[in-house]
Amino acid sequence: MDILITGATGLIGSELDTSLHQKSHRIIHMVRKSPLSENRIFWDPASGKLDREALEGIDAVVHLAGESITGGRWSPEKKRRILQSRIRGTSLLSESLAGLTAPPKVFISASAIGCYGDRGEEWVDESSCPGTGFLPDVCREWEKATEPAGAKGIRVVNLRTGIVLSARGGALAQMLPVFRMGLGGKIGSGRQYMSWIALEDITGIIEYALQNESLRGPVNAVSPNPVPNREFAKTLGRVLFRPSVCVLPGFAARLAFGEMADALLLSSTRVEPAKLKDADYPFRFARLEDALRHVLDKPKP
Ligand SMILES: NC(=O)c1ccc[n+]([C@@H]2O[C@H](COP(=O)([O-])OP(=O)(O)OC[C@H]3O[C@@H](n4cnc5c(N)ncnc54)[C@H](OP(=O)(O)O)[C@@H]3O)[C@@H](O)[C@H]2O)c1
Repeated sequence: MDILITGATGLIGSELDTSLHQKSHRIIHMVRKSPLSENRIFWDPASGKLDREALEGIDAVVHLAGESITGGRWSPEKKRRILQSRIRGTSLLSESLAGLTAPPKVFISASAIGCYGDRGEEWVDESSCPGTGFLPDVCREWEKATEPAGAKGIRVVNLRTGIVLSARGGALAQMLPVFRMGLGGKIGSGRQYMSWIALEDITGIIEYALQNESLRGPVNAVSPNPVPNREFAKTLGRVLFRPSVCVLPGFAARLAFGEMADALLLSSTRVEPAKLKDADYPFRFARLEDALRHVLDKPKP
């Protein structure tokens, strides 16, 4: 297949790029910076620039680009960039695809489980009502921006991604230094659910969704076994062979991370990958300890 990827330099995009290359697909990167070369198409989502003709005849599009949600405190300017980069980029791409003579068959667009908001112990699946707050608002607008492509008959998959586990980036990489020093532990009460997915599974799910026509609309990209934060901390400590009994109180998390603490660290989202289960996606890592041992290269003693 000829597959276009946006955000291919990011954590998920770079892993996906490697995996798809190994399977002999032709990968085209949508890039925001020169130099341009073969298999690179320029776009500037902020100013709405994109060479639409270059998209003709591409088989599939995987759209991952967007301002980092975790990097840095949520100042009003940062929140504007998080929202605008997603709405503008996704609208530009979706409308451009809808205007093609030979549009792609499938458009996989990132979204996040943040759409469900803070739900305590409740299980949520793709049919659950959305949450309230900044992240649910971002996700709603982000998914809505894919509608022009869907209206044109392109199969759209909104990938509601959980916490991606990798030692190279994302939430786990940020936790590692503290846990390696033996200073890790639960955050707040530790009862809040964390819905996670191993990096190899998120790329596996994208590849599955490229081929599997039964997957469309919102798809929860999480493992089937979310865990409370205290269990996550305990498991990570065990895998690293370090104590993990420290506590980061909620007020200290709020002091250190501001509004982001409530939205990402203290909120509880227990997500069921209902559509992936129905589609028989074969999870490589369904259990947290197996996933952590794999991504941290710590085989069972
Ligand atoms: N990692 C997770 O745990 C997680 C969880 C839920 C949802 N997601 C979502 O999945 C997508 C991919 O995640 P990721 O972890 O791979 O993200 P990432 O590492 O932050 O990479 C995102 C990519 O987006 C592009 N980008 C950065 N700032 C941008 C801006 N202001 N405007 C337009 N493009 C920008 C960059 O690629 P270029 O420089 O090549 O354009 C960057 O490499 C993101 O939309 C993310 O929100 C990730």
